[in-house]
Amino acid sequence: MAVSPEDLGFDRDVVVIGGCGHVGLPLAIAFADRGARVSIYDVSEAAVASVNEARLPFDEPGAAPVLERVVADGRLRASTDPAVVGAAEHVIVVIGTPVDEHLNPNQTAIPRALGGCAAYLRDGQLLVLRSTVFPGVTALVEKMIASLGVHIDVAFCPERIAEGKAMTELFELPQIVSARSPRGLEKAAKLFSLLTDSIVELSPEEAELAKLFTNVWRYIKFAAANQFYMMANDRGLDFERIRKGLTQDYPRAADMPAAGFAAGPCLFKDTMQLAAFNNNNFALGHTAMTINEGLPLYVVHRLEQKYDLSTMTVGILGMAFKGESDDIRSSLSYKLKRILEFKADKVLCTDPYVTVDPNLLPQDEVIARSDLLVVATPHPQYRGLVLDKPAADIWNVLGAGVRV
Ligand SMILES: NC(=O)c1ccc[n+]([C@@H]2O[C@H](COP(=O)([O-])OP(=O)(O)OC[C@H]3O[C@@H](n4cnc5c(N)ncnc54)[C@H](O)[C@@H]3O)[C@@H](O)[C@H]2O)c1
Repeated sequence: MAVSPEDLGFDRDVVVIGGCGHVGLPLAIAFADRGARVSIYDVSEAAVASVNEARLPFDEPGAAPVLERVVADGRLRASTDPAVVGAAEHVIVVIGTPVDEHLNPNQTAIPRALGGCAAYLRDGQLLVLRSTVFPGVTALVEKMIASLGVHIDVAFCPERIAEGKAMTELFELPQIVSARSPRGLEKAAKLFSLLTDSIVELSPEEAELAKLFTNVWRYIKFAAANQFYMMANDRGLDFERIRKGLTQDYPRAADMPAAGFAAGPCLFKDTMQLAAFNNNNFALGHTAMTINEGLPLYVVHRLEQKYDLSTMTVGILGMAFKGESDDIRSSLSYKLKRILEFKADKVLCTDPYVTVDPNLLPQDEVIARSDLLVVATPHPQYRGLVLDKPAADIWNVLGAGVRV
């Protein structure tokens, strides 16, 4: 007879370590909404307090009403006490895995975070790594668990949602699950089948690369579009008109993205993780990085050929790393701001979503006080905005073309 979680003494189904973050919280909410009893263990006191008061610590469309519901009926609760890790059958780890200032991945971030909860790990649990990891981290965690002497299966089941779409994509995207042991694989597949019927099984090593390849593929596609943009723009041509023309009724090119600042907390750092994994022998990835990270420099360079920036106030519209988001992590808008602060007389910034930057000004004020505007983030609020001053808009949100 199968042993139930109650027999094993688990009074929660899932605990999410790092569960107050951008990925962990939607996941915890989604499991709770599908009936699981979910705990969160997170080191951020402020975020834990916010979740327990049923307030999202950041914007995620569609998550607020579900959070209210699952907190009210006790299916989701958060804590800064690692002891909650011992009470759940499934332990999911989804802490951040950034690269450092020299672009080195941190292979020990997850083992170290787990070290803080090691005393609470128990026989019969399934440990699911959900963060995007440096390849080999799953094997490292397996070794660590074995050294603790606890009987825990380890799985790697990467998160593939895009911020802002979590509450639909968690239920719609296929879930990649991987584990070395058949029992771990079976348990992981069963857990994620709470969210979707579409389960893809891979080995841990395949799944680690599958996640990195997914993000890096996207980053390289953005870089290709950005390079095309610069080529066309240097010749006085509008890349968006060219892209629209070539993709029209032509499926083979339908996935060519528009130009734009490609940044945020994932694509860049995962490209650098993959490069480090391949002993820095990743010309395509490094080139994608120089193109994408170089776009703000290119835009300012073009602007200074046209204008005497040193006498001008430049306004930046949009500081989040992508449209309809309040997330400023690794946003190229801030790189643009730094470059312009060096070149222009004054730089003013605004964003309708961002709440964490006290230097932002209301949109009307930025538009009124600026001599020149740059649309840095394609927020829908800027669509069709009529401006009585010049604007650089590589996204074409204003609808007047992308030439700079
Ligand atoms: N943001 C995305 O769109 C996205 C999408 C897919 C995958 N990912 C991956 O998911 C992972 C998490 O990313 P994120 O954007 O949610 O990060 P985040 O910084 O928003 O969240 C991480 C959370 O972990 C907590 N935390 C940090 N150390 C901890 C510890 N030792 N113990 C307990 N809690 C701890 C933090 O307080 C925070 O709440 C990363 O590996 C990232 O690459 C992110």
